[in-house]
Amino acid sequence: MIAKQTIQDVQDRVDIEDIVSDYVTLKRKGSGKYLWACCPFHDEKTPSFSITPDRGIYKCFGCGRSGDSINFVMEHDGLNYVETIRHLAKKYGIEIIEDEQTDEQLAEQNEKDSLYIILNYANEFFKKQLKESEEGKSIGLSYFKERGFDTQIIEKFELGYSLDTWDGLLQEALKNAYNEDLLEKAGLIVKKEDKKYDRFRGRVIFPIHNVTGKVVAFGARTLKKDDKPKYLNSPESEVYHKSKVLYGLFQAKNSIRQQDNCYLVEGYTDVISLHQSDIENVVSSSGTSLTDEQIKLISRFSQNITVLFDGDAAGIKASLRGIDMILEAGMNVRVVVFPEGEDPDSYSKQLGTSAFKSYLEENIIDFISFKASLYAEESAKDPLKKAQSIKEIISSIAKIPDGIKRAVYVKESSKMLDIDEGVLVAELNKNLIKERRKDDKKRIEESTGDRLLEELIVETEIQTIDQAAQIRVQERESIRLLINYGLNDIEDEYKLYNYLLTELEDVEFVTPVYKEIFDLFKAKLAEGEIIDGNYLVANGSEKIKHEAINLLTERREISPNWQDKYQIFIPSEKDLLDTVVYTNVARLKFRVIQKLISENLAKMREEKDTEEQDKLFIIHDRLKKSEVELAKVLGIVVSK
Ligand code: CTP
Ligand code: MN
Repeated sequence: MIAKQTIQDVQDRVDIEDIVSDYVTLKRKGSGKYLWACCPFHDEKTPSFSITPDRGIYKCFGCGRSGDSINFVMEHDGLNYVETIRHLAKKYGIEIIEDEQTDEQLAEQNEKDSLYIILNYANEFFKKQLKESEEGKSIGLSYFKERGFDTQIIEKFELGYSLDTWDGLLQEALKNAYNEDLLEKAGLIVKKEDKKYDRFRGRVIFPIHNVTGKVVAFGARTLKKDDKPKYLNSPESEVYHKSKVLYGLFQAKNSIRQQDNCYLVEGYTDVISLHQSDIENVVSSSGTSLTDEQIKLISRFSQNITVLFDGDAAGIKASLRGIDMILEAGMNVRVVVFPEGEDPDSYSKQLGTSAFKSYLEENIIDFISFKASLYAEESAKDPLKKAQSIKEIISSIAKIPDGIKRAVYVKESSKMLDIDEGVLVAELNKNLIKERRKDDKKRIEESTGDRLLEELIVETEIQTIDQAAQIRVQERESIRLLINYGLNDIEDEYKLYNYLLTELEDVEFVTPVYKEIFDLFKAKLAEGEIIDGNYLVANGSEKIKHEAINLLTERREISPNWQDKYQIFIPSEKDLLDTVVYTNVARLKFRVIQKLISENLAKMREEKDTEEQDKLFIIHDRLKKSEVELAKVLGIVVSK
């Protein structure tokens, strides 16, 4: 969209020293060619962030971040490339030439620019009313003071006041040659039949900024007892899409990055009160439920979100979906719950800054404990409720895209809920397959051949790192089963080792230690001896011995407590051996196939010869079919 020439102009004009100086104070040490500052990307007391003006680059020796001027602004302000170019062009007064812009697009851009201008005008107007008008001072300002907001905070959030008149803003704007249509499009005035009047009247004003700090909308709170609604918000406009804006993000973004955590609260006043308590890494979705776009916005600055819940149960259960969405986005979520009847705003005031900060630190819990605690009361009386809560927790874990993270959480839950890990894994698999099917179906519905392939290539690339780890996990599981239960029957007269050896005949183990054990087992078997874990401990090399001990001692048994307490029969791993081993074999093969698919796709990308490409494509096709088959098998196995 932006012309190459404009990008070039920006690149020619930017000056790293000038840009970085907008954010931190640079100092020269001695006569060196570097300039130094405390890093704006991480928390530090002594400068390890440097720039080299001749070369136009920055580097932090503390956190390792580096790049040129454009990277700096992208990273610092959480903007994408195009947004950054636009931002810098404005800063340096470079004309932005748009490529191939249709008249429509041009008009749209102009309209957006006009909206920003009028919203900014209105914002200044409201701020002035708060500070200068008698009504603003006696009603608006005293209300804010009463809520404990000091002057600095009022400035920081640019709080304002709208007079209790019909058309104060409208008249003033018209006098200043702003047009009525624009005021309406910006949501500032309402036209009804032949009447037109200000949308916000007799309310305190909370301007809503986008991530670059432009005002895009307003929230306005009434100060009258039975005026409805309590908060009146701007309608959506060209520049304001509710689902894509987070209240407070502009003021919070630096702190979110530095603390590497973002607190999520419910409303305007929660955000502001936390700032007043010296906590700046906080945003609010302003009364609506959290959206994927909002989560993505946060993820530009940190992968960690801490949800602060008001202490009422109804609100909590309604917000559970938000937690799953954060997990689905691959981010980490933790939770703090406040006492009944308190919200972050009220509670921070009640406790005061330092006690409130400690409360947050001491009461932060992961989402598993949180979900478990929600059902704890009910579960204690009713075992079925406990089963339900386990299902809820596992369904959240299934949302996490990263396999290793999932494994960690399963382990954690197993400990916390006192339930065998194998049982949880089986439940998790059920969920995963369901999710996978949903995804596949969606992808196939949405994609045509070429795009599907492209997506596949990208997707498999991303997965490659995971694949090695996932294969290792399944290899480990095979060996664990083999040396613990090799001689157990999985069907009448059919031993587990027999099944494993037959099924894995053509699977090459990749983890050296498991390959070694597997080969040793086969070699001994050829001599007529069936070895087990104890044999390995007694006769294996140090490495094998160590591994065998781990595999033998892993706690997989059901807690007797669980059975006694709730009188529910839960089969032990031994009873479930057939299911466990089928799942394991299918999963291992599944992972191996996926690895082969990515390797094959990598070849396809490199291959220039079309005939060779075709061959690779056929291989791809076959691998894909096996993958689908195995997914099906996995479905059957785990849902057995
Ligand atoms: N909200 C809204 N419109 C409403 C009610 C609420 O947009 N009619 C949003 C606001 O962002 C508000 C948040 O939902 O801040 C939480 O609502 P609520 O708990 O009712 O407000 P508080 O923030 O607690 O406001 P106050 O303390 O001023 O009553
Ligand atoms: Mn409140």
